[in-house]
Amino acid sequence: KTRIIVDCDPGIDDAIALLASFVSPELEILAITTVSGNQPLETSTQNALKLCELGERTDIPVYAGSHRPLLREPIRGQYHGTTGLGSCNLSEPTKTPEPAGAVEFLIERLLLAAQEEQPITLCALGPLTNIAMALKIEPSIARGIKQLVMMGGAYREPGNRTLTAEFNILADPHAAHIVFSSELKIVALPLDATHQVILTPDHVARFSAVSGRISKAVSELMMSWDRNQVERYGSRGGPLHDPLVIGWLLAPEHFETKSVRVFVEYQSELCMGQTVADWFYKTGLEQNCQIVTQVNSASIIDVFLERFSRYQTV
Ligand code: BDR
Ligand code: CA
Repeated sequence: KTRIIVDCDPGIDDAIALLASFVSPELEILAITTVSGNQPLETSTQNALKLCELGERTDIPVYAGSHRPLLREPIRGQYHGTTGLGSCNLSEPTKTPEPAGAVEFLIERLLLAAQEEQPITLCALGPLTNIAMALKIEPSIARGIKQLVMMGGAYREPGNRTLTAEFNILADPHAAHIVFSSELKIVALPLDATHQVILTPDHVARFSAVSGRISKAVSELMMSWDRNQVERYGSRGGPLHDPLVIGWLLAPEHFETKSVRVFVEYQSELCMGQTVADWFYKTGLEQNCQIVTQVNSASIIDVFLERFSRYQTV
């Protein structure tokens, strides 16, 4: 089993990613940590707790993390609705967050993983604030991290929040800079990858046909994710950003990557939060990231559909 910690800001697509991880027996979810991003920290955390309850995974501890980015003022996600979960209404959780904070937990757990020589895969679905804080406070946690698989950045594709920046990086560019300057092994799913996987109404209909309350929630989340921006995405629907982090762990054969050096712009007003890659090895600097460049969209959607369908029979 792949042991993971999911750092997230649910968020509709974060929610789909979490539910996909719950129904994937090859993943062992050690904890969920939450961060300010799409929604304020309190809402992200409540949403994570609600999702655990829906998925009957109250065994997974949830740790609340950073209230705000390292230096910038918070920005919030668009398209996630007022609760962060679109039109998917989940009941209030009985479960509560753990007493320790996310950064404290990450440091303790990753140091233990380093000591036991059993490094853990970190999945980052939101701004990188918690992970950057943990790395700054205790750089040796890097030895406890097998790899960081993150959704974020935009390379050959334009930004989705500004002309040049993708939301997760723009929301905390200083944190992203710290993470990309660390020794971590990083796999990044940028907009270049996630815009290849547009969940159309036809796809959503296939998810809606699966019975059970998890799939019902998934199809409600997916319906709320339809942007109706045909000009931009080539069809109706929405890009499946965060779930691709889980998809990469489940079926890496459906993805192509390229190893490059990545830099994050955190000073310019115009290009704040832009991710810049050294595609042709001009800087002579060591590669610090495997960027996903190609995704087999139909196959990866089938992987998710198969996981949700199979779960109902268990
Ligand atoms: C990212 O921004 C958020 O709104 C989504 O949850 C995703 O993590 C896409 O740019
Ligand atoms: Ca997210």
